Amino acid sequence: MLKEYDCWLQYRKVTAQVNFPKTVFVQKRGEVTDNAAREFAAGIERLLGLKLAVKQIKTPPTNDNAVFLLFDDKEGKNEKLKTEGFKINILQNKILITAADENGLLYGVYRFLSLLANGELKYDLEISESPVSPLRIINHWDNFDGTIERGYAGNSLFYKNGNFNFDIKRIEDYARLLASVGINRISINNVNVRDKAKLLITKEYLSEAAKLAAIFRRFGIRLLLSINFGAPWSLGKLPTSDPLDASVAAWWKERAALIYKYIPDLAGFLVKADSEGEPGPFQYNRTHADGANMLAKAVKPFGGEIIWRCFVYNCQQDWRDKSFDRARASYDHFKPLDGSFDDNVILQIKFGPYDFQVREPVSPLFGALTKTRHIMELQITQEYTGHQIDLCYLPSVWQDILEFDTSHGQNSKIMDLIKPYKEGSSYIEGFAAVVNVGLDNNWTGHTLAQANLYGYGRIIWNPCLTAKEIAKEWSVLSFGKENTEQKAAQIAEDILLKSYRAYEKYNAPFGVCFMVTPNSHYGPNIEGYEFSRWGTYHRADAKEIGIDRTKKGTGYTGQYSPNNESIYEDPAVCPENQLLFFHRLKYDFIMKNGKTLLQNIYDNHFEGYDEAVSMTEEWKSLSKILEKDVYKSVLSRFERQLVNAREWRDQINTYFFRRTGIGDKNGRKIFD
Ligand code: GCU
Repeated sequence: MLKEYDCWLQYRKVTAQVNFPKTVFVQKRGEVTDNAAREFAAGIERLLGLKLAVKQIKTPPTNDNAVFLLFDDKEGKNEKLKTEGFKINILQNKILITAADENGLLYGVYRFLSLLANGELKYDLEISESPVSPLRIINHWDNFDGTIERGYAGNSLFYKNGNFNFDIKRIEDYARLLASVGINRISINNVNVRDKAKLLITKEYLSEAAKLAAIFRRFGIRLLLSINFGAPWSLGKLPTSDPLDASVAAWWKERAALIYKYIPDLAGFLVKADSEGEPGPFQYNRTHADGANMLAKAVKPFGGEIIWRCFVYNCQQDWRDKSFDRARASYDHFKPLDGSFDDNVILQIKFGPYDFQVREPVSPLFGALTKTRHIMELQITQEYTGHQIDLCYLPSVWQDILEFDTSHGQNSKIMDLIKPYKEGSSYIEGFAAVVNVGLDNNWTGHTLAQANLYGYGRIIWNPCLTAKEIAKEWSVLSFGKENTEQKAAQIAEDILLKSYRAYEKYNAPFGVCFMVTPNSHYGPNIEGYEFSRWGTYHRADAKEIGIDRTKKGTGYTGQYSPNNESIYEDPAVCPENQLLFFHRLKYDFIMKNGKTLLQNIYDNHFEGYDEAVSMTEEWKSLSKILEKDVYKSVLSRFERQLVNAREWRDQINTYFFRRTGIGDKNGRKIFD
C-alpha cells in the first residue's frame, strides 16, 4: 500500500532483522536531538510495532542492551566524525548511532530507519557518513497570494491571500521529508519579492515567519529570507536604495537587527538583484559587490550570510543584434568581481549559462572563481522539463553536471570541487534548488516526481551516488519490497531512468534550447522566443540552425578553461548533445553515427515519443498491483505526457521538413 502523502517515508511494517532493544538512551543536547529521538521512536513504532522507552542521559551507561543516540565528543580522536556526520554500529547487544553534532544525529536516525525499512540491517554493520556539500538549500518561489512561481503541485504550503497561512502538522511533515534527505537551509519566499512579500521583513510578518522557523529548526533547517534590494526606498521611504549611501546601509543594519530578534538563527538573505526587472545596484551605477557587501555587513553581527544570485542578464535584447549573447552574461558580470566580495557573501550560480534548460552546458563560472564563495543552483520544479505532467527524472541531469570536468587544474570535476570554501580554490560549497512541492496531497503533483526531491537531497549529500542508485533507493522506499511491491518498485525505477533521455529526445534538439511556449514554458513553440527580447534564439533558416559561440562567433567558448574551450570550439569533438548550443551548423552536417544532423533530429523525435509510449505501457502493467488512485493519477499524467510528446515530435519534425524540404530517410510520417 503506497501512501502518497508519506513519500519515501512509508515505514511499512517489517520484521526486525536484528534483536531490537526496548530502550533508547539519548545524550542530552538540544531540540534537534530531542526531535531525533522522537523521530526514532515514532519510526520504530510504525516499522516494528514496538513502543520504545526514550531516556535522556548525560553519559552513556555501559553494558546496557539498548539503542544509544550519542555524540562523538572525543576531540583529537583519529577518526573524529565530520560536521553533520554520523556513524551507525549494530552490535550483538546494542545499537549505536553516534554523531558529530545534532544535525548529524538526526541524519543518522533517518538513515537507520531507511536501512531497517529496506531490510538492510545486520549484526556488525558499521556505516559512517557525512555530507559532501556543506550547504544543502531548498528555495521556494512561493508568493504571498498563495501562488507559486513555476509551481505545478498546487498552491503554497506557507501563504494564502497576502498572508502567512500554514498547517503546522503539514509543515512538520514537510520538514521531516527534507531533513530525512539532509536539507539544512530553506528560503521561504520567491526571489521576485513583490507586493505583500515586501512586508516580510516587517514586525507583523516576521512573527509568523518565526513560527515557521521554529518548526524547521527542530529538523536542523535554518531559514533564509528573499529580500528586495529596493526595500530602503519602497519600504523605508528613503530617497534611494544606493548601497553606498550611508542612510541605506544604516537602514539595512537596523532592519537586520529587527529580523534577527524574531529569527536569531536566520541563515541570511537570498537576493535576486538587477535581474528580470528586480531592483539592484546597477540602478545606482554600483557593482554587485557593492550591493552584496553592504547587505553582508548588516547581517554579519548576527552570523548571517548573503546569498547573491548570478542570474543577471539583459532581458531587453534586440533579436536583430547578433553580437550580443545572453549565455555570456553571468561570467561577464561576475568573473571580474572575483575576490571583491565579503567573506559572508555566497554567490548562487545557475548550473548553466541560460536557465535550467533540458540540456545546456555547465556554467563557465564553475572552476573559474577562486576567491569567492559560491554554490550551484538547480531546479527541482520542472519548469522546462515537463511541469510534473511529463516525467523527467532529474538526478540523471544532475549526474551529468556533477561529472562535468571544468579542467581548471587537477581533480576539477564538479563533483570533486564540492567542499567547504578555501581561499584560492574553486570549491563549490553546496547547492540550492527551486523546489517542486505544493499543497497537492502527494506534494509534487506527479507522484513519481517525488523522486526528484528525494534525489536532490541524496545527490548533494553524496555526489558519488549515481542516478540509478538513487532511483533504486527511492523506488524501494516508496513502493516497498514484498511480493508484488517489488515489481512496482522495479518498474518505477526503470521508468524513472528512461524518462530524462526520452524527454530530451522529443524536446529542442542538441542543446539548442528554448523552443518552448513563451511564459508557460510547457509544450513546443519553435519560434516562440525567436523575435522576443529574452536573448534565447536558435536562428534556424533553410540551411542552418544554432548559435556560433566559438571564437568566430560570440566568443562564449573563451569563458572556459583552454582544454574545454578547444573541445567546444570544434564541432567534431563538441559533445553532441550540446552541439547546437555551441555551433551553427548545416542540416547536412554529419554526426558521429554517420547520419546528418537533420536525420538525427527526426530520429530523436520519433524515438522520444515512442519511449514515452513504452513508459506508459510499463506503467499500465501495474494496473492490478497498485492501489487504484495511485495507479490512475500517474496514468493520467502519462496520458497527458503522450499528448505533449506527440505535439513536440510533430511540430519539430514538420518545422524542419518545411524549412528544408528533406523528408525522413525511413519514410515515417511527417506532417507537411
Ligand atoms: C526563470 C523563470 C522565472 C524566475 C527566474 C529566476 O527566468 O522563468 O520565473 O523568476 O528564472 O530564476 O529568477
